[in-house]
Amino acid sequence: MNSQVDSRHRSSKRYTLLTGATGLVGRYLMRDLLLKGHKLAVLVRPTKQQMVRERIEGILQMWEGNLGHRLPRPVLLSGDVTQANLGLSPKQLSWSEKFLDQIIHGAAVLKFQSASRELEPWKTNLGGTQHVLDFSKRCNIRDFHYISTAYVCGEREATVYENELAVNQTFRNDYEVSKFEAEQLVRDFDCFESKTIYRPAVISGDSQTGYTSTYHGLLLYLRLMAMLVPEQTKNADGVIETPISLPIEGDEPRNVVPVDWVAKTICHLVRTPEAHGRTYHLVPDRCTSAREVIEYCYKYFHSDGVKFCGADAERTADSELAEKLFENTSIYASYETSDPHFDKRNVSRFAGHLDCPSIDEEMIFKLIDFGKQNRWGKEKEAAPKVVRWIESHLTEIALAAQKMMGALRINGTDRIFKFGLDIHGPGGGQWQLLANEGRFDVTPGLPDDSSPVLKLNDIQINDLLMRHDSEEMDRSPAEDTKDAINWTGPLETVITENPQPNQ
Ligand SMILES: NC(=O)c1ccc[n+]([C@@H]2O[C@H](COP(=O)([O-])OP(=O)(O)OC[C@H]3O[C@@H](n4cnc5c(N)ncnc54)[C@H](OP(=O)(O)O)[C@@H]3O)[C@@H](O)[C@H]2O)c1
Repeated sequence: MNSQVDSRHRSSKRYTLLTGATGLVGRYLMRDLLLKGHKLAVLVRPTKQQMVRERIEGILQMWEGNLGHRLPRPVLLSGDVTQANLGLSPKQLSWSEKFLDQIIHGAAVLKFQSASRELEPWKTNLGGTQHVLDFSKRCNIRDFHYISTAYVCGEREATVYENELAVNQTFRNDYEVSKFEAEQLVRDFDCFESKTIYRPAVISGDSQTGYTSTYHGLLLYLRLMAMLVPEQTKNADGVIETPISLPIEGDEPRNVVPVDWVAKTICHLVRTPEAHGRTYHLVPDRCTSAREVIEYCYKYFHSDGVKFCGADAERTADSELAEKLFENTSIYASYETSDPHFDKRNVSRFAGHLDCPSIDEEMIFKLIDFGKQNRWGKEKEAAPKVVRWIESHLTEIALAAQKMMGALRINGTDRIFKFGLDIHGPGGGQWQLLANEGRFDVTPGLPDDSSPVLKLNDIQINDLLMRHDSEEMDRSPAEDTKDAINWTGPLETVITENPQPNQ
């Protein structure tokens, strides 16, 4: 009997929780997993301006605009990894215990220096990872995926292998140490059947569109060039002069990878069970170099004048331009002279068919074009446009289904009936509705595969709701409906805390 209960419980645990879904990597990973039909929940914190559902809706509508078709919606958990139990409400926690079986933990803070271990990046990267691990244990998660960084290797020069972590290395900053210690926590945590670790190198924007939502690493340098170079004077030939002496050879290898490849590779590995349980260096096949990037920038801006003075030279500014550049990139100074060689045999073995696009001239042009169009991060993300948030209309949907159910009365008794609602597009979501004796239990997330699922897009469901509204206008006082629906899942908090839907 117990084993029957266990196996039923087990088979219904089929959702993956992604943390960091609003971040650069996370928003690509969310898109790619949803495109593959992966059952996804996301842990997101509200901002001052937007609640969780508006944040995720805005990102998904951006993807839908690019893709030209609608996407499913993930289950939303409103939380924060710096809090115990990820700050989830009791209902969200019990939903998680019942339905989650896999976690991809990507949330982190990319702040390099800290005044104390009580502050960022420690709070999120180390404390947050500990909370995610404790939460995983509570939810009996069997399959854990963690996004680390290639730079847990610290200041190494020799080849770094995927199976190595602690080799008495020294580190450049608190971010590296916090990620190193977090990866160690994950490796030492005993509760999982499998742990898979992804270590991306420096992440740039999209290889096809130049899109990015943050400006770190290479993107920060490009932003500075785009802002500073056009301010410099042109010589007699019309070429902008950029007199900067850099204390590097210029040809030092740089491990930079586009975000679309990072997400596509993680998505593929998450969905390939035989690849689980390993560590993956998400690094380029061909490194770029400062000299290459600067030469592409010469072409873009029609400029010239950077000198490479060798790694022994001082990082001293010999022009106002150099002063501004050095001042704004000082956090990266320790990365300028060396970058290790990362062995990537696990990636080659399990995702070798996914070619990593090289950072070439065309890509640099796209990155700069996008940055300019996006005003280097100052352009506000578009607010989502939603005619109806379907979660606010589940009572009507349940009542319409109940009416249909009347027709299904068998031998004079109500039939117990479970079905899923999978609404793609703006305002959509995934729910299961269990009709029982005239009442409905509504739980976020789709039912297991044996129950029917009503799959509609936002236009179709809005048509249905409009028709239902006009039919019911004269004869459906609110009192008739208020007890028809019983929430059993996490979205209740999102419903009650959210402002009125956008029109
Ligand atoms: N970018 C790189 O070059 C790079 C390189 C190697 C590895 N990585 C790793 O890749 C992962 C993703 O990085 P990214 O570049 O995508 O970073 P990002 O754009 O800065 O995104 C960070 C994400 O973490 C979330 N987050 C931060 N603190 C949180 C908290 N207390 N509770 C819940 N969520 C929280 C953020 O949510 P909000 O939107 O609410 O802030 C955001 O969704 C990180 O683990 C990072 O260490 C990044």
